[in-house]
Amino acid sequence: MGKDNSISRRTFLKTAGGFMTASLLPLKLVEVCWGKGEGEKFTFACISDSHLTQIKGTKFTSNFDKGLEQAVAEVSLMWPQPDFVVYGGDLAQLGKKAEIDHGLEMLSKLEVPIRFVTGEHDFYLDMGRYWEEKVSKLYYSFDHKGVHFVTLNSILTYEDWIKRWSTPKERMGQMARLDNPQGSPFMVGEEQIGWLKKDLSKISHDTPLIVLSHSPLYKVFKPWNFWTDDAEKVQALLRPYKKVTVLHGHVHQILYNQIGNISFHAWMSTAWPWPYPTTYTQKPNMVPKMTAFMNRADVFHERDATGISSVDVANGRATQHFELWENSSRTLRFDEKLGRVVDANYQDPSKRIPPQNHY
Ligand SMILES: [Fe+2]
Ligand SMILES: [Fe+2]
Repeated sequence: MGKDNSISRRTFLKTAGGFMTASLLPLKLVEVCWGKGEGEKFTFACISDSHLTQIKGTKFTSNFDKGLEQAVAEVSLMWPQPDFVVYGGDLAQLGKKAEIDHGLEMLSKLEVPIRFVTGEHDFYLDMGRYWEEKVSKLYYSFDHKGVHFVTLNSILTYEDWIKRWSTPKERMGQMARLDNPQGSPFMVGEEQIGWLKKDLSKISHDTPLIVLSHSPLYKVFKPWNFWTDDAEKVQALLRPYKKVTVLHGHVHQILYNQIGNISFHAWMSTAWPWPYPTTYTQKPNMVPKMTAFMNRADVFHERDATGISSVDVANGRATQHFELWENSSRTLRFDEKLGRVVDANYQDPSKRIPPQNHY
């Protein structure tokens, strides 16, 4: 927990005393609501990358179901309730209607509105048709308590690649692989960049912006598609704004970066963690220098680096809290003096437990 919160968790527990200890409220989530801020404060919760996988008929991979169930339960217990929930994409594993319907059914237990981002696993079976019909627009903007939100569909790709596959199933299967030499980089595309330009033309440069996307809107590691090919074009449109936060899914791990005025944060996955690309490959990559690698004893542990996050917006700057199911909680906030995002629970890389060998 950061030093600048108006009430520390310990103080809160002390003042709340026996009342809170006797209650069943998840205390770890209460701190989200007590940050210090001069503007109108609000919180929203983020759930991402559930990858619900249909085995047959009504049978789904139970481990992935349980991840989403747990996230929905944790958000439902938050008090006060977040203003809304952002779902960060990859609700389905192979874009099937049954998987999307199953996910919507599970998410319907939430009592606050949901804003959806599309992931490549939701999209490439039918090029987003069912998603658009049943779930959400693929890109849109909205305003909430003085903050302008923009949701982008960042997982589009080149036409030639789309035409290369003979069936929708084959196309989906190819896009679903992590380290696919036959893959194709994600992009936002000219049409949407034109739309973004028009959308932002109505927004003053003092208005805080929060951009939601599935892939990171910068370049991390191309062989795994932790990458958006035209990210620089989007960044150029965000550059005139004083307070910009980009929140994204897809990488299934804590990752943050600062490029000029823009802070980037990744969401956790509820399904499985990916290792950092530096962990198992010597290939060049651009994992941001300021990323504090998490202390992960076993990067293939099915619940390591999975969880949900909540975002606290005060003074237009987003602070992200991670509730990790099998690791210590983390808080990432923008440090005005340093001019970048810092990790309140920094884990010294020299004390990190090295990855184990996997065969
Ligand atoms: Fe994912
Ligand atoms: Fe993804």
